[in-house]
Amino acid sequence: MSATRDAARALATGVLGTAALGVGCLAYAGLYEVDAFRLRRFDVPVLPTGASPIRVLHLSDFHLTPYAVKRQRWVSELAGLEPDLVINTGDNLAHQGAVPFVLRSLGRLLDKPGVYVWGSNDYYAPTFKNPLTYLVRPSRLTRPEKETLPWQDLDRGFTDAGWLNVTHRRTTLPIRGVRFGFRGTDDGHLHLDRYADVAGPIDRSEVDVAIGVTHAPYRRIIDAMAYDGHDLILAGHTHGGQVCIPGYGALVTNCDLDTARVKGLAQHSAGGRTAWMHVSAGLGTSPYAPVRFACPPEATLLTLTPRMG
Ligand SMILES: [Fe+2]
Repeated sequence: MSATRDAARALATGVLGTAALGVGCLAYAGLYEVDAFRLRRFDVPVLPTGASPIRVLHLSDFHLTPYAVKRQRWVSELAGLEPDLVINTGDNLAHQGAVPFVLRSLGRLLDKPGVYVWGSNDYYAPTFKNPLTYLVRPSRLTRPEKETLPWQDLDRGFTDAGWLNVTHRRTTLPIRGVRFGFRGTDDGHLHLDRYADVAGPIDRSEVDVAIGVTHAPYRRIIDAMAYDGHDLILAGHTHGGQVCIPGYGALVTNCDLDTARVKGLAQHSAGGRTAWMHVSAGLGTSPYAPVRFACPPEATLLTLTPRMG
């Protein structure tokens, strides 16, 4: 009887210990790390020889509600970086009333040159999903029948400020004497991307630095951008895996990109050409999955420097 009681006590202790660890991790992920913002920095050698460095602030996946006050405050302080260019890779909204909060948080960043594309969470309101399914398979790929968000109002705010929507457009923009060319697509996660609309080799007589901009880094999109000769590709969407294993990394990318490149600066090759690629882990999360673990929210300052060799 005594041995049975000891075994039962050991089992109960184990179950309670595991439950306590789970609650502790959840509390850390939801109460601390989800607001533990980081500014990451990378140098990217894509400028012509002799050019002065150009600083690009990459923002993504704001997923903003009026109640995410810490996120708004942190983003509002980024204007102090005085970047030369801001690139926003989408998923700004998570609430019908979020547009003025996004614009107010960006503040003086809207006075800088800016380029943007949309993500699925600009178009559609978030809905409850079992967060564990995110770790098992990519989230729903078809265009959902759900509440739309006021992305047109945000579009007006961005374009009134002079930012350029590069969705299925080719645009050139001179910055500090360097001719930048941008091409973007709509969201690949909803199969809205039509890269063919902007495809074609980069014309080096018109463009010094070619940047491809898309929300979700699906292989078909980044392959096409690299193949055409882009120097740099920027994307978001992955949330860096959002819930990661310390010392191991991301379990998922929520698209067909490999987990090794779920966030940060990497390279992507296609057709014999190689582009730099920066994937942002993003600033926010869906309000229905407000946790991050071993993957803090971030913005990234990319310092573009002259090409090597
Ligand atoms: Fe997102």
